[in-house]
Amino acid sequence: SAKGHYRILVSDAMSSEGLAPLLDNSQVECVQQTIEETSDLHSYDALLVRSSTTVTAELMDQMTNLKIVARAGVGVDNIEIEEATKRGIVVVNAPDGNTISTAEHTFAMIISLARKIPQANASIKNKKWDRKAFQGSELRGKTLGIIGFGRIGSELSKRAHSFDINVLVYDPFLTKERAEKMGVELADLDAILGASDILTVHTPLTKDTKGLLGEENIKKTKPGVFLINCARGGIIDEKALYNNLESGHVAGAALDVFEEEPANENPLLAFEQVVATPHIAASTKEAQLNVASQVSEEVLQFLNGMPALNS
Ligand code: MLT
Repeated sequence: SAKGHYRILVSDAMSSEGLAPLLDNSQVECVQQTIEETSDLHSYDALLVRSSTTVTAELMDQMTNLKIVARAGVGVDNIEIEEATKRGIVVVNAPDGNTISTAEHTFAMIISLARKIPQANASIKNKKWDRKAFQGSELRGKTLGIIGFGRIGSELSKRAHSFDINVLVYDPFLTKERAEKMGVELADLDAILGASDILTVHTPLTKDTKGLLGEENIKKTKPGVFLINCARGGIIDEKALYNNLESGHVAGAALDVFEEEPANENPLLAFEQVVATPHIAASTKEAQLNVASQVSEEVLQFLNGMPALNS
């Protein structure tokens, strides 16, 4: 493209208000349409995605002019990073724009599990008045195990403290000082598995975290444990979760993410004790505005020759 004139493809739904820095910029032409709808893939300098677009080697081979891929969100597992690097394409994300929304959604999941709110809601709307079926348990004094103590895990722990929940944390990268400052107890994986009433994962999906809560580790959890995944499908192994829900070892699970999405046919959804949402933890007005404006600014800076901050 001519100097000072850039073409940007936004291939997943994104906040238009957040895209304003690109849409209102005469230097750039910003096109919002899917990959399938785009015939001139080779002409774009930048690609903005959420999670619906998978940025594969094949796609990058077609986008011969591509210089930067920006993920309006945190997880970059839908982008073949190594392939991008090989082609000299920079990958950036919006690391903190949806932290609060995701922590809040996770907390909503915790309360939903403890008080069976989704199940009771479904029942009363089915014209039943069943007060016995929905006895719950208090959260005060319970132990919440947080696996992965980055931005989201930390924000979650603050919220848990206000409910008088004990927080145990497993994170190989966390220092004792930071744990103390956040008022949480550092534990190794086995200790956290054995002590938690509620276990929630907040790690990226990598080869080390894939299946982290699988048969072997779920066996080490307390009978009656609640498991939560608002991070990435596959960190909790779905087959293992299925078996342990069926046996009753796991009392309930709350899932916002799945190994395969959309997850309409997922067998876990058949369990009454599974609370599920369709990958909406980051779907708030605030978070979507934040992530879209963060990546818009990043892409503009980069195209104007400044180094990318969040690569
Ligand atoms: C993320 O990684 O930021 C989340 O999965 C949210 C999203 O894709 O919108």
